[in-house]
Amino acid sequence: MNADALKKMAAEAALRYIQPGMIVGVGTGSTTNFFIEALGAARIHVDGYVASSLATENRLKMQGFNVLDLNGTGDIPVYIDGADEADPHFRLIKGGGGALTREKVVASAARLFVCIADVSKDKPMLGKFPLPVEVIPFARSYVARQLVKLGGSPTLRDGVTTDNGNAILDVTGLDLSDPLRMEETINAIPGVLDNGIFARRRADVLLFGSADGIIERKT
Ligand code: A5P
Repeated sequence: MNADALKKMAAEAALRYIQPGMIVGVGTGSTTNFFIEALGAARIHVDGYVASSLATENRLKMQGFNVLDLNGTGDIPVYIDGADEADPHFRLIKGGGGALTREKVVASAARLFVCIADVSKDKPMLGKFPLPVEVIPFARSYVARQLVKLGGSPTLRDGVTTDNGNAILDVTGLDLSDPLRMEETINAIPGVLDNGIFARRRADVLLFGSADGIIERKT
């Protein structure tokens, strides 16, 4: 099976976490796009959706769904999103699509975070995927120098401006053996808005599409 078929399998499996009348947080990326398609087909009458990016908001609206402002919803019951890597402790790297900051906000506002992915994202430890860091443009070079001091090699993601008007540095070479510590260390650099390590707010459920069917893990 190709990666898209596995992503679709994981996305469809996430429907089991969606109940009528809920407010559902929706992530960003190709796996989440399959989830939005599955929602359209399933016709579960939810109260509304909170989008983690403008791209997702547009997709949800194209399906005729009610998109809500997180400022008006309070905490939400469930958030469904993909990941670039997931470790056995439910910690993630996210932000390949550049939406990491809003994704972390919606994930943190959710009581349950269900992460959907093809099984290639299931890793013994985080750190192969370049870590996305969202920085305010004014601080780009300063932040890059601090990331080098932490052992990383940052590269500016060319031509990308986030939904928040910022730049993304993709960082390789960092030691992520203690993901929570690195998440906090990077976020303490002035000019960093957030980074793609999800260790403080990790997933509660991992749903991987695999050739042998769905692999489901719960904290
Ligand atoms: C978006 O910013 C990311 O966090 C995505 O959730 C992540 O990159 C996974 O994307 P795919 O579902 O496209 O693999």
